[in-house]
Amino acid sequence: MYAILGATGKTGGALVDLLVQSPNTHLNVYARSKAKLLTQRPDLENTQNVKVFEGSLSDIPLLASTLVPEVDAAFCVLGSNENIPGIRIAQDTANSVIAALCYIREKDTNYKPPKLIFLSSGSLNPIMSAKLPASGKWIIDRGMSHVYADLGFAEDNLRLHDSWLDVTFVQPSALTEDVQKGHKLSLDKMAEDSPFVSYLDLAAGMIEIAKSGSYAGKGVSVVATGKDTKFEPNAPPQILRGLVWHFAPWLYAPCKYLSIVS
Ligand SMILES: NC(=O)c1ccc[n+]([C@@H]2O[C@H](COP(=O)([O-])OP(=O)(O)OC[C@H]3O[C@@H](n4cnc5c(N)ncnc54)[C@H](OP(=O)(O)O)[C@@H]3O)[C@@H](O)[C@H]2O)c1
Repeated sequence: MYAILGATGKTGGALVDLLVQSPNTHLNVYARSKAKLLTQRPDLENTQNVKVFEGSLSDIPLLASTLVPEVDAAFCVLGSNENIPGIRIAQDTANSVIAALCYIREKDTNYKPPKLIFLSSGSLNPIMSAKLPASGKWIIDRGMSHVYADLGFAEDNLRLHDSWLDVTFVQPSALTEDVQKGHKLSLDKMAEDSPFVSYLDLAAGMIEIAKSGSYAGKGVSVVATGKDTKFEPNAPPQILRGLVWHFAPWLYAPCKYLSIVS
């Protein structure tokens, strides 16, 4: 059995797409809005092997119900691609998941926590990011600075629990919406021919990690091996906005208030 935390997102949706195909795979799926999830995936309402859990990320008993002892691996794929100043989705996810697992362990001393497959970014991995051209790295590090700070705190927190938690940090390069074209896992390269990897290839790589016993505590990238992975047109404007929020974080709140950003 698997748990997916963040099923309404693009990575979460790709994981649902791949895992729901197998009638023998049971899924516990967490979303903050069940209505949004069922609008995206009306089929889930009547899918026998999928159970949906709706609520706040800070609802620890709810997360504990999602992470029951039968869950072998939990995909933590909540996040944001917008460089929002002060963002803390990744930290909140890490804190809540750790709290939920402690809560279950208090009640059941034999509880074995699931493997955690935590979506992060290749930019946080010094070996992988060292292979980027210096100018590109300079821009991306600043255009995603708040997101990376959030992911960094979350990774550090989860690593503090490595004596009892099996966590793999999935650290891909740029993500794009495309069909599944093939992937491989890498411990030292974010990307090869294309800087992009599709969400479906990413999800397939995350499932491979969940089924493997070899990646506890490691940072792993999912690299596209197929030809002509699509360019993601949203990426440049996201980085440009991110640069503005990096150099002038105080501008974000007024722009949000005036609905200049969504
Ligand atoms: N885009 C890239 O090129 C790239 C590359 C490498 C790594 N990454 C990392 O990938 C992550 C983004 O993944 P994605 O593209 O799959 O994201 P996404 O499509 O934006 O989905 C984000 C998910 O997180 C949920 N979420 C956000 N805030 C929440 C909160 N406070 N409480 C509960 N749920 C919350 C969203 O729920 P709702 O639907 O309810 O909002 C949604 O399910 C980021 O951490 C980013 O750094 C991205």
